[in-house]
Amino acid sequence: MTDDIYEPYERLVTVRYLGREVRVPQKNLLLRCFQFLEPMEIPYGDFCWNGDCHHCALTLMRDGVQLEALACQTAVREGDEIVEAGPEVRRALVGWSEG
Ligand code: FES
Repeated sequence: MTDDIYEPYERLVTVRYLGREVRVPQKNLLLRCFQFLEPMEIPYGDFCWNGDCHHCALTLMRDGVQLEALACQTAVREGDEIVEAGPEVRRALVGWSEG
C-alpha cells in the first residue's frame, strides 16, 4: 500500500503514542506517521520538517533505551513507544488522541 506523501510501505507497524497503541506505515518518518493519524492537522502544524525548529521533539523508548528524537528526522520502528511529545505535536494530535 502506498500514497504519494508516504515512503512506499507494505504494512503498518504497531507503536505507542502517549500510552495508546497505533498502527502506522513502516519505513516512514515519525512525523509522517503522525500525518497518517491526523492528515488534516499535521500538514498545517508549525513544523519545518528539516530538523531546525525542534517543534517535533519527542522522548522515545526504543529497544529499552530512552532517546530524545526529532520526529521529522527519525524513521519509525516496530515497537517504538513515544512517551513524551512537545506542545505542537500534542496540539496537532489532540483531536485524534482524544477520539
Ligand atoms: S519539524 Fe522542525 S525539527 Fe522536526
